[in-house]
Amino acid sequence: MVKKEKIGELFYKTGLIPVIKIDSEEMTDGLAKALRGGGLSVAEITFRTKAAPKVIERFASCHEDIIVGAGTVTKKDEVDAALLAGAQFIVSPGFNPSICEYCLGKDVAVFPGVNNPSLIEQAMAMGLSILKFFPAEVSGGVKALNAFKSVYQQISFIPTGGIQENNIHEYLSLKNVLACGGSWIVSADLLEARKFDEIERLVKSARRAMMGFLPIVQDGIIDEENQIRSMRDGGCIGGCIEVKTPSIKRTLAMLSYLKAYVVPGSEVEKGQGLVEVSISIPGLHTQIHLVE
Ligand code: 3PG
Repeated sequence: MVKKEKIGELFYKTGLIPVIKIDSEEMTDGLAKALRGGGLSVAEITFRTKAAPKVIERFASCHEDIIVGAGTVTKKDEVDAALLAGAQFIVSPGFNPSICEYCLGKDVAVFPGVNNPSLIEQAMAMGLSILKFFPAEVSGGVKALNAFKSVYQQISFIPTGGIQENNIHEYLSLKNVLACGGSWIVSADLLEARKFDEIERLVKSARRAMMGFLPIVQDGIIDEENQIRSMRDGGCIGGCIEVKTPSIKRTLAMLSYLKAYVVPGSEVEKGQGLVEVSISIPGLHTQIHLVE
């Protein structure tokens, strides 16, 4: 069980929260394997199907390495069912004060959906500082989030709704975006057809779009040969591989599980932040030079 205060950090490291509509608990194990294989450790199971509580229960009891939460929660009895099943966070499409108060009273992390200043301020008045921005694309997308940034400096957003592989990079480049939510990697159709390999491929592809590259890990060991080959095929091989990334900070956070560390003295700062840095990963002899 992850502490409520740590969920935000976990979202930041994962960068992507798959929003999942699933019809049968029998698909849970295949889904968990695909998410894990793709490198994701968070799942939002929406209360849009009757199977949701059972799926959450299965994740919580058999796939503890994946932090499971409940999405599309609009009623208190859904909060109860989700928590009983083992959900570690609650996501709502809108800002419903009674749902938020109910969750806060139970000391559970809640992320209500907002898409304008009035709703943001109502959520802030409740002490919330991480909010879902929904529906992101039709509510002004990146432009709206940029406008919120100067006014609501203490708020982090989870944009969801219309996020795809082609725009996730842009959203994650914003400093007030904690992570993005999206359903495209685990679509209902893929689940229905039990295409778990395809789900894993989409997860990897999304993570590659987020970071600029994808570390390949097999049995806890970096598959260096494959890693180097894929980077060489991408046209970047040498003593040090240069990779452009939307956020150095996020990439470092996402690589922390591989024990990546910053090469001392390699940091280049511009204005307030880090714009270049070299990192080393134990087991990988080639350094990676990240450029933001
Ligand atoms: C949600 O439930 O948060 C949204 O429906 C997800 O939006 P998407 O399908 O556009 O990713």
